[in-house]
Parts: sequence; structure tokens; C-alpha cells
Amino acid sequence: MLTGKHIILRAPEREDLKSFHKWQNDEEVMLLARSQPDHVKSMVSLETELEKDLKGEDTEVRRYVIEEKSSGKAIGWCSIRFHSWARKYHNADLGLCIGEKDKWAKGYGTEVTRLLLQEAFEQLNLHKVGWWTFAENKASIALAEKFGFKEEGRLQEQNFFNNQFHDSVIFGLLKSQYEKRLHSK
Ligand SMILES: CC(C)(COP(=O)(O)OP(=O)(O)OC[C@H]1O[C@@H](n2cnc3c(N)ncnc32)[C@H](O)[C@@H]1OP(=O)(O)O)[C@@H](O)C(=O)NCCC(=O)NCCS
Repeated sequence: MLTGKHIILRAPEREDLKSFHKWQNDEEVMLLARSQPDHVKSMVSLETELEKDLKGEDTEVRRYVIEEKSSGKAIGWCSIRFHSWARKYHNADLGLCIGEKDKWAKGYGTEVTRLLLQEAFEQLNLHKVGWWTFAENKASIALAEKFGFKEEGRLQEQNFFNNQFHDSVIFGLLKSQYEKRLHSK
């Protein structure tokens, strides 16, 4: 478990299935989280994914449920996904989604990112983390830039939704850049 001031990041459990079902069937949430409004997920398909995770079979990703301390409620999920295709564990991509929309813009995303970066750099000793989103996802980009992520690339017209193509943007943060920011505070 990773403990912050207002939230904790804990392992997903069977009881979270209903929350995952709600969030992953929300068009607005899924568009922002996955760069496509993929919002038709059955309980059975999510249960299958969750069972795999509960058994710890997927070693390429660490998934967490974001829980609000004050209410004890699950409000979203996040992950650290290793770039294991190279059979080396130096790099990973961060992913986060606050599925409860009334919890947006209250500082929770900032706290989640801080905890994920601490885990990635100070516990897992990763060299670099990445952050992917589409060019118009203002909240996601503001959050990445707040932590010093630099835009490293733009994939032209990579995503298609709402009858238009949209660019993907890729951000990166090195451990050395993360440490420099920590020490400059
Ligand atoms: C993106 C997301 C994680 C941000 O978390 P959050 O809790 O809403 O954001 P915070 O309150 O911590 O704010 C972080 C920064 O982003 C800014 N921000 C938040 N929402 C914003 C918006 N809609 N437009 C522009 N900036 C925004 C804040 O001002 C803050 O910067 P500041 O501290 O310098 O003022 C959250 O909105 C979310 O889960 N959205 C849906 C899924 C998603 O987009 N996931 C990211 C995919 S990579």
C-alpha cells in the first residue's frame, strides 16, 4: 500500500468490480483515460481481467486502486506499466484515472502522481517514466508538466474519436530530473 495525505493506493480487490464497471462504462472518463470512448465493458470481461490481477499473474504492470482516506471510497485506479518488451526493467509508463468525476480538480491527481513517482524512482529505482495522452487532454498535460515531465514526441493523428483524428503526446521524466526538482524545493 502507498500512503498519501488524503489518499492511499492499494491493491485491487473483488469488491472493486462494481466501481471498475461504473468507471469503464463512462464515455467521458474512458475517452480521457484511454484516448477513445471505449465504454462498453461487461461485468464478466472486467471480472476476467480482475481475476488475473488478483492472482498476481501479470508481472508487467502494478495496478492500484485510489482510495479516499476520509470516506474509505474507491475513486479511481492507477498503474505503473514496465517496458518489459526489452526484457529490462529500467522504464515504465504511468497511468491514472480518477473515475469519480466529482473528485476531479481537488488535488487527488497530484497526490497520486507524487506517490507513483516515489514508488517508481525511490523504491523500484527506474531510470525513466513515461506519460501518454492525447493533445487536448488539458488536465492530464497540466499534471504531467507540474511534475517536470517534458514533451518528447507527438504522434500525428494517432487517435480517432468524435469523427476526427487527434495527436498523441508522449511525456518523459528521468530519475535525475525528478531528484533535481526534489532538492530544489
Ligand atoms: C487527469 C487527472 C488525473 C488530473 O487529476 P485531478 O485530481 O483532476 O488534478 P489536480 O487537482 O491534482 O490538478 C493537477 C493540475 O492540473 C490542473 N488542472 C486540473 N484540471 C484541469 C483542467 N481541466 N484543465 C487545465 N488544467 C487542469 C490543476 O490546476 C493542477 O495544476 P496546479 O496545481 O498548478 O493548479 C483527472 O482529472 C482524471 O483522472 N481525469 C480523467 C482520466 C484522465 O485524463 N487520465 C489521464 C490520462 S493520461
